[in-house]
Amino acid sequence: MTGRLSGRVSLVTGGAQGIGRAIAQRLADAGADVVIGDLRDPADGSEWVELDVTSSESVARCIDEIVERHSRLDIVVNNAGIMFEEDVETHSETSWQKMLDVNLTGPFLVTKAAVPHLQASKGAIVNVGSIEGFSCNPGHVAYAATKAGVHGLTGALAVDLGPFGIRANAVAPGWIDTELNSNFVDRHPDRDEVVRQLAELHPVGHIGAPTDVGDVVVWLASDEARFVTGQVITVDGGRLSKPPLPGILS
Ligand SMILES: NC(=O)c1ccc[n+]([C@@H]2O[C@H](COP(=O)([O-])OP(=O)(O)OC[C@H]3O[C@@H](n4cnc5c(N)ncnc54)[C@H](O)[C@@H]3O)[C@@H](O)[C@H]2O)c1
Repeated sequence: MTGRLSGRVSLVTGGAQGIGRAIAQRLADAGADVVIGDLRDPADGSEWVELDVTSSESVARCIDEIVERHSRLDIVVNNAGIMFEEDVETHSETSWQKMLDVNLTGPFLVTKAAVPHLQASKGAIVNVGSIEGFSCNPGHVAYAATKAGVHGLTGALAVDLGPFGIRANAVAPGWIDTELNSNFVDRHPDRDEVVRQLAELHPVGHIGAPTDVGDVVVWLASDEARFVTGQVITVDGGRLSKPPLPGILS
């Protein structure tokens, strides 16, 4: 993949860890200059600009800083996101709003600030949605709503920004082996059984790695995807294609 993105400057929001970090690594492997915009410094030598995607002032400072340092911006990956479980009866208005602010308003604010620069470079936007934008687990009312919103935002951006030469797509990851998910699995008293049952949900026989998402993001950001816009690409090892059967039959 080396060189596919040479000379391109990219911003990965929430790139200090997890999926965002793998996306940043894959973009760098493809030759892009990568700036991580995150609340915290990844402290691994990556180029970092402090960013809170929920604040338009912070977003403006981050985009200005990138353009000052690199003179351009070609690729924006709206990856920063949060997830917590609360069902509809117990969700407070504050926690609902928090999820919306980070997961949905964040990509809007970052995109809005980046558009003039992406217009100049005929750049690409890749949003990180989720399979939970299509179907969801119990207690994920706000999360699922924000991820469906990210998918909708992606199509709308493709329509509005296409005439300026900017493409907008999204990836919808399934179960990815991040710290958050592995802690969740490791905490279970029968960890091995959880791993086995998780694998069984996936036609490919295993859960995903953060780099599985990173590789698709690189492709969407690259010229190979020049006629692809407004799409949500599911990266889930086939999980959504396999409706579960009752345990007794499967
Ligand atoms: N892990 C999964 O299985 C999975 C599946 C589908 C979709 N996703 C999506 O992928 C994205 C990354 O998920 P992850 O599991 O790597 O999460 P993570 O919690 O490991 O990392 C999220 C990063 O975002 C940063 N962040 C949080 N709030 C921020 C803010 N206001 N401004 C800037 N940065 C902020 C955090 O500091 C962190 O570095 C999220 O959008 C998530 O919804 C994850």
